[in-house]
Amino acid sequence: MSLIIAPSMLSADFAHLSDDIRMVNESRADWFHLDIMDGLFVPNISYGFPVVKAIAALAEKPLDAHLMIMNPDRYIDRFAEVGVSWLSVHYEACTHLHRTVQHIKNAGMKAGVAINPHTPVSSLEEIIPYCDYVLVMAVNPGFGGQSFIPTTIDKVAKLYAMTEKSNPDCIIEVDGGVNEANMASLAAAGAKAFVAGNSVFTAEDPSAMIAKLRNLSL
Ligand code: DX5
Ligand code: ZN
Repeated sequence: MSLIIAPSMLSADFAHLSDDIRMVNESRADWFHLDIMDGLFVPNISYGFPVVKAIAALAEKPLDAHLMIMNPDRYIDRFAEVGVSWLSVHYEACTHLHRTVQHIKNAGMKAGVAINPHTPVSSLEEIIPYCDYVLVMAVNPGFGGQSFIPTTIDKVAKLYAMTEKSNPDCIIEVDGGVNEANMASLAAAGAKAFVAGNSVFTAEDPSAMIAKLRNLSL
């Protein structure tokens, strides 16, 4: 099984963003992970369309945007316009999640649903058949560099059993505190895509770390 590594640009050096984009382009990474925060759904503000556009102009790999914002429907079409191809919204931020997922697909993107650490995977039972991916938060969203919550591994295993039953094509992505110590266990539990912020960008050789993570197999 080939794993997907998505370096989180939240941990990049924003004063030298083009250098970090080039590093990801030239590395064995699969996607760029873009964290969008509104200061309401999460206690932090990250970056918006001007930065996403700048990344899109240089990125040679798909953009995976993770919306940590309330009422994300307002911005779905604009994310498609700026070149995002994988878009996730939070279960906890959407009143009409099925409608939102359809909106993302109609805009031509892959649709993901993200869940916070406290949200049980059972909440996703009715939406999994419609999802291209589920993003499991392994930290409370809002900041890079936090510690991995170990119970996420069991959560992924439970979710994997659900996806196998109702939508085997649904990819499980894990986000938050992912590193070389926990990635193999997450992959064994059924995760396929891995967001890595600090573990990549604080490594002495970020590109080598990406290759190392990508090679971790079952
Ligand atoms: C946190 C974000 C993550 C974050 C991951 O709210 O969703 O994508 O950038 O960073 P690390 O890997 O450092 O936990
Ligand atoms: Zn994220």
